[in-house]
Amino acid sequence: MPAANRPVLDFLARRLSQSAKHFTPPVPGRAELEELLTIALRVPDHGKLEPWRMIVLTRPDFARLATLAEERARELGGDAQMIEKGRGAYDRGLLAVAVISSPKPSDRIPVEEQVLSAGALCMGLLTVATAAGWAANWITGWPAHDPVFRARAFGCHAGERVAGIVHIATAAELLADRPRPALAKVVQWGLG
Ligand SMILES: Cc1cc2nc3c(=O)[nH]c(=O)nc-3n(C[C@H](O)[C@H](O)[C@H](O)COP(=O)(O)O)c2cc1C
Repeated sequence: MPAANRPVLDFLARRLSQSAKHFTPPVPGRAELEELLTIALRVPDHGKLEPWRMIVLTRPDFARLATLAEERARELGGDAQMIEKGRGAYDRGLLAVAVISSPKPSDRIPVEEQVLSAGALCMGLLTVATAAGWAANWITGWPAHDPVFRARAFGCHAGERVAGIVHIATAAELLADRPRPALAKVVQWGLG
């Protein structure tokens, strides 16, 4: 029998996201963040293509992102609600890591697998930040899905996407856990 790492399993069994709407300082400092990013970068990556990049965002970056989101909403003819939704997370942002899916040309590794690796990186960040005692929340929002916004904001070229913006801070209010999927509903044992 393999030796189980029970504390890790117990942590993972209870891990949950918190809402970035309730985030306050403090946030991790540079040295701690470097450790968290290093651990999160232990991510499955078929073909070792490193099909992602990360941008660490702090208050001045969020101010710029909020302005860009509002500008883009106005260009698109958006109403006050679209502006508010677009600016929202950026107006409130304290510290986050934008994970950019950046597939590399390959004859062997499909783009889908490279995008999944970026998703795995987001999940790794979420998990390691939570393990370090921080509150974390993986969000995107409409601007992240807008090609013009993501080019202006994050320098994304045509093949790049925002896989996630992982906010990391302290939760002023803790969320209760949400209902989790029932195994029987989503797992089929064998091919029958
Ligand atoms: C790719 C992706 C994008 C998401 N974007 C948002 C978002 O923009 N706004 C939001 O409220 N939640 C968003 N979520 C959901 C949050 O991460 C939510 O808090 C999460 O489902 C909680 O799950 P957990 O407690 O298992 O970590 C997103 C989730 C994923 C996977």
